[in-house]
Amino acid sequence: MNIVIIGAGYVGTTTGIAFANQGHQVVLIDTDEDKINKLHQSILPFYEDGMEELLKQLIANGNLSFSTCLEEKIDQAQILFITVGTPSLPNGVANLSTVEHVARQIGRFIKDYKMVVVKSTVPVGTGDKIKEIIKDELAKRKQEIPFDQLSNPEFLREGKALYDAMHPDRIVIGCDTEKARLMMKALYKEEDAKILFTTIKDAEMIKYASNAFLATKISFINELARLCEKTGSNVIEVAKGMGLDQRIGPQFLQAGIGYGGSCFPKDTQALLALAKEKEQPLHILQAVTKVNQTQVEWFMEKVKKALGNLSEKRIALLGLTFKPQTDDIRESSSLKMIDYLLKHNAMIKAYDPKGMDHVKKIYPSITYTNTPYKAAVEADAVLLVTEWKEIIELDWNRVKPLLSQPYVFDGRNALDASTMIQMGYIYEGIGHRPSS
Ligand code: UDX
Repeated sequence: MNIVIIGAGYVGTTTGIAFANQGHQVVLIDTDEDKINKLHQSILPFYEDGMEELLKQLIANGNLSFSTCLEEKIDQAQILFITVGTPSLPNGVANLSTVEHVARQIGRFIKDYKMVVVKSTVPVGTGDKIKEIIKDELAKRKQEIPFDQLSNPEFLREGKALYDAMHPDRIVIGCDTEKARLMMKALYKEEDAKILFTTIKDAEMIKYASNAFLATKISFINELARLCEKTGSNVIEVAKGMGLDQRIGPQFLQAGIGYGGSCFPKDTQALLALAKEKEQPLHILQAVTKVNQTQVEWFMEKVKKALGNLSEKRIALLGLTFKPQTDDIRESSSLKMIDYLLKHNAMIKAYDPKGMDHVKKIYPSITYTNTPYKAAVEADAVLLVTEWKEIIELDWNRVKPLLSQPYVFDGRNALDASTMIQMGYIYEGIGHRPSS
């Protein structure tokens, strides 16, 4: 099929690569010339393991191309995907201005039937708005060109985006005509069991509800971790025991310093804003965001208490990205941590395998090192922020003599507490208090 994808961000680029890899003809559009020029040269605007090699192949075999001009490319598409960003406005509401602009352009440029599929995460009811905008533009041109509007939310995880795009556990498609339904079935060459057809409004809500529910699991276990420290329980064992119940499941019960990234914080705020607009409060989700907003501070208070105070203390921050296998630092807990440490006059040396350049732009004055060992030199404490494999698997016997004080605060419960204690570290994790 011929597909045009509008918006070469994380979702658009990954979706384009996955469809091109299935043999579809894909054109990826973005107004950012620099981004498009780089994509022409097989350079991704973000880091995702293995994706650049595939990008190179797909460009070479002609399945994937790029452009900054939607008007030039729109005729060749049967399906148009909208994958532009929907960042939060200050009140939490999703900013739909780019989505609406794209819908206007579609209404201005189409000459024959198109399927317009929204993959951007948008509040419930946006599908109707888009339909109206396109109709409105067609009416201005005095045209009655048929089109279908659909919702097809994405559930990609950064760091595993390619795998998720190629092996989805479900494909949710909101559409209201048989023609669109059949075309989407032909597009996704997946078994029927994986495809759920719904109304557009249901598909829009499924996306928000899924992210809100995963965020709920994380905040639940994080809050419970705080209680476990008071009761002397171990949240790692508690999560294991809970996860064995198939109705609960083990995933997203990893206690830590809170969720970050481009989705959970933004989407939970957007759902809360929608709830407010509809005068139907979501009390649980309010608590979920509150726990997340306070989790770093709760952790840092522990660090401060253990070290006495933080003024002039040398802190090694290991990991800066919001999770491993990505260079994304959006809403990363590391940023809240840096703010806290700077406010308390600590001296920071930071290391991350992929995220340092981005953090440098926000905090140019802290020290960045090109190895984790250098960050540890004369540090009063090591803070493990992101559970990169190379950080977990450091030679901790080599780290210890570099330190001024043998404190390790493990913000992800990624290290084995008893091994660390045997090595002579003073170890603190999340939700468990190792005794020896
Ligand atoms: C998420 C959803 O998983 C994905 O389906 C959706 O399309 C986009 O949002 P992503 O933001 O890439 O994906 O990251 P994810 O792996 O879900 O992790 C989000 C945050 O939660 C990270 O900061 C991670 O460290 C944290 N997390 C995750 C926990 O603290 N504990 C857990 O048990 C799981």
